Formats: sequence, C-alpha cells, structure tokens
Amino acid sequence: MRRNFLPFSPPAIGEEEIAEVVDSLRSGWITTGPKVKQFETEFSKYIACIHAIAVNSCTAALHLALDAIGLKEGNEVIVPTMTFVATAEVVTYFKAVPVLVDCENDTLLIDSNNIKEKINKKTKAIIPVHYAGQSCAMDEILQIAEKHNLKVIEDAAHSLPTWYRGKMIGSLGDITCFSFYATKTITTGEGGMACTENKEYAERMKIMSLHGISKDAWKRYTAKGSWYYEVIEAGYKYNMTDIAAALGIAQLKKCKEFYKKREKIANKYTQSFKEIPEIKIPVIRENGTHAWHLYVIQLNLKMLKINRAQFIEKMKEGGIGCSVHFIPLHLHPYYKNTFGFKSKDFPVASYIYERIVSLPIYPKMTDEDVGYVIDNVIKIIKENKK
Ligand SMILES: Cc1ncc(COP(=O)(O)O)c(C=O)c1O
Repeated sequence: MRRNFLPFSPPAIGEEEIAEVVDSLRSGWITTGPKVKQFETEFSKYIACIHAIAVNSCTAALHLALDAIGLKEGNEVIVPTMTFVATAEVVTYFKAVPVLVDCENDTLLIDSNNIKEKINKKTKAIIPVHYAGQSCAMDEILQIAEKHNLKVIEDAAHSLPTWYRGKMIGSLGDITCFSFYATKTITTGEGGMACTENKEYAERMKIMSLHGISKDAWKRYTAKGSWYYEVIEAGYKYNMTDIAAALGIAQLKKCKEFYKKREKIANKYTQSFKEIPEIKIPVIRENGTHAWHLYVIQLNLKMLKINRAQFIEKMKEGGIGCSVHFIPLHLHPYYKNTFGFKSKDFPVASYIYERIVSLPIYPKMTDEDVGYVIDNVIKIIKENKK
C-alpha cells in the first residue's frame, strides 16, 4: 500500500485560480457579473462558436437547451444508455421520454446505426454524448437529424477540448453543453456552458437561466443599470457566479496544457497495456481527437479469475482510486421501472458494463504516479490470470 492514496480525479487548482477568485472577492462582485461575461467571451473564442452562456452545471445547460428547442410533454429524445443520468434526466423534466440507444463495442459511443430505428413522429431531438472525451460519429448523426428534422443537443461534459474532422466540439450541433464539475477537464467547482450559433436559442437560454427576466438582468445592479426589469417567462435559477467564473477564466488558460498532460498519461497507459490480452485498451477513431477526460479499460473476464469489482478492490488495496463510467441507464431502477427498459435490448452496453474500469488520469499525476498505476494493473492481472 502506498503511503498516500492516489485519488481517482482531483482538480488541478493553482495560484492563478486562487488569485482570480480573490480578485472577485475583493471586487465585491461575487455573483453573476463581469467575470462571467469575460469567461463566456473567452470560452466562445476558444471553441470558435458565436454564443456561450455560462450556467451552474452541465445539467442546467442541457435543461435550458431542451427548453430552447421547444421540447414538449410526450416528445421523445434519443439518448445513449452509456452515459451519466443527467443526459436523460433533463428529458423527464418536460414529461418527455428518453429513448435509449446501445453503444459501439469498441468506443462505447452511441451507435449511430441504431438511432434510425428509434425515430418516429414523436422524436424531437438526439443527445449524443462524447463519451470519455471522444466525439461521436457527428457526420452521421447530423445527417440523420437533418433527414428527420430533429435537433442535436450535444452532451460535451467530457469533451473539452475535442476536435472532430478539424472542428472543435461546441461548434457542430444545435446546442452543445459542457461541464465544469470538479472532476472535469477544466473546473469551476460546479458549472456548465451552453454553446450555440443560433441567436434565438442563445437569448432564450440566457433569459431562462435567470428567472425568465428580460435580457442581462444582472446589469440592474451596475452604475449603468436600472432597477426596472420584466419577467417574461417562468424561468430557472441557473446563473453562474463570478467566483466560479474566476476559476473558469484561470482554468481555461491551462486547458491545452492540461490536455497535453492527459494525453501523455493516456499514451503511457496504452503503451504499457497494448500487449496484454486480459485488457482491452480504448479505441480512438481516426476522424478526431480524444480529450482523455476518462481512460477506460475493458477487462477480458474470460481470461481472469476475478471480476471487475474485485479488480477495483485490489487497486484500492494498492492505494489507487478507480471508477466505473457508467452504470448504463437501462440498469437503474427508475429507468427500468418507468420506461420498461430491459438488459437484453442493450446487449453491448450490458456486456461491457461488467468489464469497464476507469483508471486515474489528471494533470497533477506525476510520472511516478502513472508508473505506480501501471505496475499495479499489471501485477493484479498477472496474479489473477486463469
Ligand atoms: C456525460 C455527462 N453528462 C452530464 C453530466 C452532468 O454534469 P454536471 O455535473 O455539470 O451537471 C455529467 C457529469 O458527470 C456527465 O458525465
């Protein structure tokens, strides 16, 4: 056992983040204000999208996105089963129905070949999830959407930065939603961003993110602002604070550096595991890049005496935190009971779920940490071969 536990995914907060937050605290402006505006501007430049709306989570961004496209009760939305619950949960906010789709057996991304058969007159949108940090087959998905007049809301919680055929995720679908949760590739503690090229969607999301108050509600507290405002819709309380945006401003500057570090770790893992038949390493499509939010291996259980839970337990005994992304949605009681999803209807995700393990991968990992994870994985595999 190592002296210190190696956690699964701590944030990389430096003096720059601390200085930006202190600056916000000293300025007296701690909730939505100039730093949020700055973060939105810098983020939209980074992605090369026209509008970026900062909110307090990716879940909030997804909710606002579905509201902006006019999702209604009884509509259906196509969602991968291999995702975090937020992706489907937001659909249920509208009393609409999440229609789950199985994943590809190598990338674990939504299988675009399975989307068409789930489309009917009630289908309104597709929410592709760029699982682990790799882009879904966006050309195919956008084509299907165009043919059937569906909107595409991308769940990009894992994919900053990710390129697909030379374009950055955030500039492809109708609306793209990012997460800045504590474990994500850049963080604001809690936070999210909705990106779009569509002015109407952007305006609607902005208004709905702050109680349905007419444009730039926060300005009423500035020297140029007025006390008068109008509520034009029943909105939500999803605005990002300046304290969170301060973190985001500093983190965004490091996004590329963080990405390079994650990529280096992923390459080391891949080099070390690629000849081990008991482990299947992540598969990367040639049409884009991988942000390496997650490094997910699949255990070849036929060749091992232990199961996935035992593997994770042994890693923990060695002082290493691992995780599982994800328990597919169709296996959760709420989704099973409410929508009648069955394991056999999602054979790939059901099979893969038993085998996946997410290894630690984050910028603060030292070469020694990475070597330690590799040695432990290899040791556990050697000791537990059939
Ligand atoms: C695929 C996916 N979508 C959405 C979310 C929700 O993000 P947030 O916590 O910012 O609401 C997560 C968070 O882990 C996620 O993994």
